[in-house]
Amino acid sequence: MMATMTASAEATVSSQPKMTARDVKVFYGEKQALNGVSIDVHTDLVTAFIGPSGCGKSTFLRCLNRMNDTIDAARIEGRIELEGHDIYAPDMDVVQLRARVGMVFQKPNPFPKSIYENVAYGPRIHGLASSKAELDAIVEQSLVRASLWNEVKDRLQDSGTALSGGQQQRLCIARAIAVDPEVILMDEPCSALDPIATAKIEELIDDLRGRYAIVIVTHNMQQAARVSQRTAFFHLGTLVEYGDTAEIFTNPREQRTKDYITGRFG
Ligand SMILES: Nc1ncnc2c1ncn2[C@@H]1O[C@H](COP(=O)(O)OP(=O)(O)OP(=O)(O)O)[C@@H](O)[C@H]1O
Ligand SMILES: [Mg+2]
Repeated sequence: MMATMTASAEATVSSQPKMTARDVKVFYGEKQALNGVSIDVHTDLVTAFIGPSGCGKSTFLRCLNRMNDTIDAARIEGRIELEGHDIYAPDMDVVQLRARVGMVFQKPNPFPKSIYENVAYGPRIHGLASSKAELDAIVEQSLVRASLWNEVKDRLQDSGTALSGGQQQRLCIARAIAVDPEVILMDEPCSALDPIATAKIEELIDDLRGRYAIVIVTHNMQQAARVSQRTAFFHLGTLVEYGDTAEIFTNPREQRTKDYITGRFG
């Protein structure tokens, strides 16, 4: 059903990294929140970010599509590339970047519009469809990929906010997929969901692997072990350890990693 730890140990890196981060530091005013993070993200691997509250997971995730730009006090140093291009370069189109590097948040946040419009909105503003039929096809395909189509195909004009929490989160994933992204960032996408809805999202993440580079922040160790092939452990703004998920959970190099994954702190 889902990626297992054994499968992840066998996962090989067949591609160039989709994104690379080098020595990324983030400051909120005077306060430093990240102390120089370097990481590669691959299309054929799901990468999990774990670590105690306040260690900088969301801060780093937001750097990857420049969502930190929206926080006045935030300042970033270092370099982040998407397919070799500096995403902080002056000529980078940030709207375009956020379509290429989509984001799914902790709390499902569908627009107060119909299910159809939630998914059609991005393709429309990015001019991805030249006819209504084409737009319909993108909406259908995105909902299929997000494993939501069968549940909503007869009610596409109902409001997105009328769906269950788990359905809303899959709608948000469909919305991210609709603009044909290369990377999908997910910040605790299951923390507001029940176990069944969570299992559905985890299955979906595994299905999407290979097509998109996926980065997921999670507080749930079992989830990280189930869905990811690479795990990054953050502590106090530092990337303590990054490697094969099975390795991190069975044989971590760092004592701090061991203490965290065995529940000694966090
Ligand atoms: N908008 C902000 N303004 C000022 N400081 C911030 C802001 N966002 C985060 N911080 C600080 O940066 C540090 C890292 O926060 P961040 O939200 O990245 O942690 P996190 O690992 O995602 O935590 P959690 O697991 O609780 O979501 C914390 O000390 C936090 O207080
Ligand atoms: Mg966070």
